[in-house]
Amino acid sequence: MPPRRPAEPDIVRYYTDVYTEADRLHRTPQGRLEFARTTELLARSLPPAPATVLDVGGGPGAYAGWLAAYGYRVRLLDLVPAHAAAARRNHPAVPAGVADARRLPLAGGCADATLLLGPLYHLTDRKDRVAALREAARVTRPGGPVMAAAISRSTQIIDLARQGRVDEVTRAAVLATHATGVNDPRTGFTTAYFHRPEELVAEFAAAGLPAPRLYGVEGPLWPLLDALDVGPAERLFRDAVDCARAVESDPAVLGASCHLLAVAPA
Ligand SMILES: C[S@@+](CC[C@H](N)C(=O)[O-])C[C@H]1O[C@@H](n2cnc3c(N)ncnc32)[C@H](O)[C@@H]1O
Repeated sequence: MPPRRPAEPDIVRYYTDVYTEADRLHRTPQGRLEFARTTELLARSLPPAPATVLDVGGGPGAYAGWLAAYGYRVRLLDLVPAHAAAARRNHPAVPAGVADARRLPLAGGCADATLLLGPLYHLTDRKDRVAALREAARVTRPGGPVMAAAISRSTQIIDLARQGRVDEVTRAAVLATHATGVNDPRTGFTTAYFHRPEELVAEFAAAGLPAPRLYGVEGPLWPLLDALDVGPAERLFRDAVDCARAVESDPAVLGASCHLLAVAPA
């Protein structure tokens, strides 16, 4: 493993200078699957518009913009200043600022629902992930949904293997990441943590939240989508969505999704 460094500068640098997050959910079939299924799951659990939704780790605002278009009052907070600025540019009606999910500058109970679709990916210490969940619970009115996403433990090994990138150089790091959940940035991405389904459930409990409903977001067919050279085959895309929906709560395949979504009332 590389030496541990403070995570935040790494994450801010990655999203500012290395990776373009802005169109991630529309650029590739896999991104479209994530967006289609996440919005489906959000729509099922959110209170009706014009409820107030706090989007913590909202990035450049893909979900905030979608929610605002449906009449929700949305506020976005993100660790990366460039993301908050992009969200303000992309969605002028959505107030967006810089904040850390572990210390939200907000009064308790100010939101009807809180999204945490990103911060848990990047907090490698359990106490930090629990702090972010506890903050999400604090700022959500009692009974309102806290909806938190995690990247599945299996995602990296599946994603690199389908690209033929598990080789003599990367194999040890990939296996170590699969064992510990802590990403080795030499294999790509940045400071990151990959969850097993039961860990996400236990972290909700440690944050004082009720046991969440847990969903596999993309289902097991996601690795096929970007493996096609000829762009999205619409039939395969629709089948991947149907398959994800059919098995979304099956504990036997939850971890085969790229992302997990956990939902519990504050
Ligand atoms: C993969 S992006 C997801 C963005 C958006 N929520 C989405 O799902 O498209 C992860 C986001 O989490 C943000 N993030 C990471 N750690 C955070 C923290 N401790 N507090 C707030 N935001 C954080 C990153 O800056 C980034 O915008």
